[in-house]
Order: sequence, then C-alpha cells, then structure tokens
Amino acid sequence: MTNAKYNLEPVEVPPVETKYRVIRTKLPVPESLEIFKTLENSEPRSMMGQPPVVWDRAEGFQVWDRWGNCWIDWSSGVLIANTGHGRPAILQAVREIVDRPLLTSYVFVHEKRAELTESLRKISPDPDHYKVFLLTTGSEAIENSIKLAKTYALEKYGPERCCTVSFQNAFHGRTMGAQLAGGQPEGKRWIVGEGQTFFQVPFPDGFKNEDTSFDLFLSSLKAQGVEPREIAAVISESYQGVGPDFLPYEYAQSLQKFCKKHDIVMIFDEVQAGFGRTGRMFTFEHYDIIPDMIVCGKGISSSLPLSAVIGRADIMNLYPPGSMTSTHSANPLSVAAAIASLKIIQGEKLVERSERMGDILVPGLQRIQQKYPSVLGCVTGKGLVAGIQVVKAGGKTPDAETALRINERCFQKGLLMFAPVGVAGECVKIAPPLSIEEDALREGIAVLEQACEEILE
Ligand SMILES: Cc1ncc(COP(=O)(O)O)c(C=O)c1O
Repeated sequence: MTNAKYNLEPVEVPPVETKYRVIRTKLPVPESLEIFKTLENSEPRSMMGQPPVVWDRAEGFQVWDRWGNCWIDWSSGVLIANTGHGRPAILQAVREIVDRPLLTSYVFVHEKRAELTESLRKISPDPDHYKVFLLTTGSEAIENSIKLAKTYALEKYGPERCCTVSFQNAFHGRTMGAQLAGGQPEGKRWIVGEGQTFFQVPFPDGFKNEDTSFDLFLSSLKAQGVEPREIAAVISESYQGVGPDFLPYEYAQSLQKFCKKHDIVMIFDEVQAGFGRTGRMFTFEHYDIIPDMIVCGKGISSSLPLSAVIGRADIMNLYPPGSMTSTHSANPLSVAAAIASLKIIQGEKLVERSERMGDILVPGLQRIQQKYPSVLGCVTGKGLVAGIQVVKAGGKTPDAETALRINERCFQKGLLMFAPVGVAGECVKIAPPLSIEEDALREGIAVLEQACEEILE
C-alpha cells in the first residue's frame, strides 16, 4: 500500500536533453497545476499519489506531457503496456473496429471474441481442457475465479469446503472478494464482519519472511484451525507485487502437490505477472506447475480494459448459459487490442526479449544496491520487473520516505516510475515496456544510480 505525497510546488530542476529524455520546465509544470486543482476538487483523494505529470501522449517506452517534457517510462502504466504504449498495430486494430463501427455487443457474439478466446486457450497449459472467460478488470476476474473455485468445492464436497487460502502481503485488487483474498490488513479493515472463510499464510519471499519452507504453510493453516478438507481454493500472485517476490521453486512444487492431493483449486494471479513480464509468457512457468485457474489482466491487451480467467473446463463450465456474464465482457475494442498485442508479443518474441533485458536490468540494480547495502535492503527481479527495498540503515524496517525521494528524483531527471509500492511504500519498483530499447534501459539504470547518489550520499 502506498501513501505517497509528491511535492506540488513547482521546483527548478536541471534541464535534461538526451535521445530519450527531455526535461525543460519546472516540475511539476506550473501550467499543469490547474488540472491537479480540478482533480482535487472533483475526485476522492485516493486518486492522487502518483508523480505529478499530466500524460499527454505515450508511445513505445516514452511518455510526453504537453509542455515538451519526455520521460523514459519504467511503469508501463502500471504493468499494462507490455508491448509498449500506442503500438501502431494496436491502434490500427482499434481503428478498424471504430470505423466499422462496433463499439459494443454485450454478450452477443462478435467474431473477434472467438479469435481471442481461441488464442488464449492455445497458450493455456492444456488447450484441450482449458476455457477462457473474458472480463474487464483484474479484480473482476479475481472475484470470478474465487466464485468458480468455491462453487466447484461446494458442488463436489458440500458447504464444509468453503475456505480460501491466500498469502500475507498479497494484492488481488480492491473489490470485496479481491481484498478478502488480499493479505494487506489495513486495506480491508472496512470489510467488517465478513471473510471468516478467508485465511492468509506467510509468503516465502526470503527477505521479509526468511522461512521459505512449505512446512510454514502447513503449520500456519494448522495454527488457524484450517483443515485441508475445508479448503476450496489456494490463490497466489505468481510473484507478489510488493517485491516483486517470487515463490521458491520447491515451495511452488509442494503447493501444487498439496492442492492436487486434496483436490483444492489452485489459482494463480497473473494480472501483473503475465504476458511476458518475467521472461515467460506466464510467470508460473518458472515453477513448472500448472494452475487450475489463471487470472489475467493488465498486459493482456497492453492498453484497453480487459481481463480473463483461463481455467480447467470442468470448473469453467459450472454455470449454465446466461448465468455467468458481464456487461462489458469481450468489448470489441479491448478484444481487438488484445489480439493485436498478443500478436506483437509472439511476433517480436517479447517474452524472450524480456528475459534478455532482465539480464541487464537485474545485475544493474544489484550493482547499485551493493553500493548502499545498509539502506537498499535487497533487489529482486526477473525479466522486466524488479524492485529495490529501501530500509532504515542496517535493518529491515521499511523506509518509505527515502524510497519516495529516490522515485521523485528519477521523475525530475526524466525517468518515470509509479509511486513506490511494498508493504509500507518502501519498494522502488521498475517495470518498463518489454519493447524498451537496450540503450534506453541502460540510460534508465544510470539515471537511477545518479538519483541514489544524490539522495543517499
Ligand atoms: C496481482 C494483481 N491482481 C489483481 C489486480 C487488480 O486489477 P484491477 O486493478 O484491474 O482490478 C492487480 C492490480 O494492480 C494486481 O496487481
């Protein structure tokens, strides 16, 4: 959870002019303040908290404002634009649907829906036995996966099998079911009196929790009085967004064995981890496991709102015609964007590219971390997602303030990241589009290093 408060007083910053970055005004831009003021008046304050840039245009791995400033984007939105912003093939695909026109069809059939669900089925772990349900947001898809898993358990084993097990520090979205499955207690305080069937266990990240054994999973359930026969589903992000934190290979293997043994539906949340982000099409592939259900969002379209549940056919088919739908499911514009995006990922081999670029990014960050080991607690990453945990000197106590200062200094130098994440806003997180040029990636690493020098020395 972040609570970042960026400075909204314009300050002089050194001008920047490189091949990929331009900063030529005070930041935030004085002329943009009116827009922030309007938003402050019309929106809840929860919508603030990102670096104060007003996006005017985003293309490839760059973001421009209206005043001539240009940033290298290390956010991909928030891990949305995997293929890059505004890719011409995606624009063209959307334009064709606009020009037809076919802006909506509810759940009446349109041809592209068949094309996309077929393509997604084909990249599922077992195309002959998996089905695809298109939705709009990641949270909505998470809700649906939990509903399906609980329905499966109820119908097969009865009401006793009603529990959902997830992980501490998990993030699955902000709707009620998604937050119940989440592992961030502050965020779900509002859900008073619900959730007696949702249980969290420690995530084996190795830094915040050093016990990475699967025994801890078992003992944590026991301590909470949960028996395997009561568990409908186990849900985990394929990597936890607060890190990114990955499951140890052996742990993931044990988790799969446990779920198989007890016929528990294993759900992997790939909303931010999917579509090449970590150098695999899906991040669970790093663990050689096969989830029963895969929840997708964000990078699925690189742009327009779309999400999906890809799951075992016997679970996906539990509801009869007309009883599991959503108004904007398979919206033609989003679907066209997703088809084009997937073709780019496959055609340009962005999954492999992401892995290769990760071999530059992660060691680059580790080198920076090793310069300031007492305050940069650790670096984690795979492919084109990485994070630096900023801590109070010599320990593991999160230091959100310093993380924010590093992030803000990068912003002032033309390197854009979303606000720090993590358990307490201590994680400087990096997620460039998978299409980022190698020299732009290296330039970004150098900017981050400079920012660290200025803030930490
Ligand atoms: C891992 C994960 N799951 C689910 C969600 C929720 O997706 P949405 O914001 O589209 O509802 C997010 C969003 O950040 C996420 O990172």
